[in-house]
Amino acid sequence: MNLFKDAGHLLRFAALFVIAFLVFWAIRGFVVPRSFGQYGHYRGAAIGEIGARPLHFAGHDACETCHSDVVDVKKAGKHAHVNCEACHGPQAKHAADPGNVTPVKLETAALCVRCHAASAARPKTFPQVNAADHSNGVACETCHQPHSPGMDTPAANAGGAK
Ligand code: HEC
Ligand code: HEC
Ligand code: HEC
Ligand code: HEC
Repeated sequence: MNLFKDAGHLLRFAALFVIAFLVFWAIRGFVVPRSFGQYGHYRGAAIGEIGARPLHFAGHDACETCHSDVVDVKKAGKHAHVNCEACHGPQAKHAADPGNVTPVKLETAALCVRCHAASAARPKTFPQVNAADHSNGVACETCHQPHSPGMDTPAANAGGAK
């Protein structure tokens, strides 16, 4: 008995399947980047490409080498753990060439409320103020030294806003 006597349609289907697979394999070889899978399920060459991008943030250590005076002020105050570049923005260019690249002056009216504006979404224990009531439009740095915003400055003691 010939098992495959009436199997012509099955063989045609199998052949079609094999052809489809070969076409898929050929296209895959063409479109999948060479370095895919070199280290894992991603494009190996991406590591070099990302590494070659220019740096924007210099990091806290870089600022410390030249601005130890600011670091000393900051270390003692409530902003001890707020990174320089969280306020001053990315400063890699300045750190690399301070003579020619000067950080822009910060506008405290916009900067400080980014973290301290009263909001129900912030943890209750985080210091926050309603800027309009608190300062009446007076610039924050009139009373708070940005690097050490404690309440022991003469200006803050004289002001007494809340
Ligand atoms: C290689 C030394 C060096 C490094 C590193 C450096 N700075 Fe400076 N920075 C300077 C010098 C010098 C000045 C003064 C430039 C001037 O007066 O024009 C300055 C000025 C500044 C100023 C004041 C600009 C103004 O208004 O006059 C800020 C803010 C500042 N740096 C922030 C930073 C931060 C943040 C970092 C870390 C990411 C940093 N710097 C890293 C040397 C450095
Ligand atoms: C909480 C926000 C904040 C942080 C954090 C911060 N700064 Fe500042 N910084 C300011 C503001 C506001 C000013 C005053 C406006 C200006 O000069 O841009 C200032 C001014 C400066 C100045 C120029 C005048 C001065 O006071 O000496 C330098 C230099 C400076 N910062 C460096 C640094 C460095 C270095 C760090 C990290 C060790 C740092 N800052 C962290 C907000 C901040
Ligand atoms: C990137 C976020 C950030 C920015 C911007 C920022 N701060 Fe702060 N601030 C903090 C953190 C974090 C603390 C510490 C909170 C704590 O101790 O629970 C703090 C603490 C303070 C305190 C102390 C409050 C207390 O209860 O003793 C004051 C005042 C203050 N900041 C004022 C300012 C002023 C003024 C500016 C603008 C120059 C500013 N902050 C910008 C994050 C920020
Ligand atoms: C007229 C002076 C003055 C000005 C201007 C001022 N503050 Fe204050 N701020 C104070 C004093 C004084 C306190 C302490 C009040 C208290 O604890 O009762 C304080 C406290 C704070 C606190 C801590 C609040 C808490 O609950 O612990 C934050 C945060 C703060 N100020 C942020 C700001 C910001 C942001 C600005 C600018 C929009 C600003 N301040 C402008 C005088 C001032």
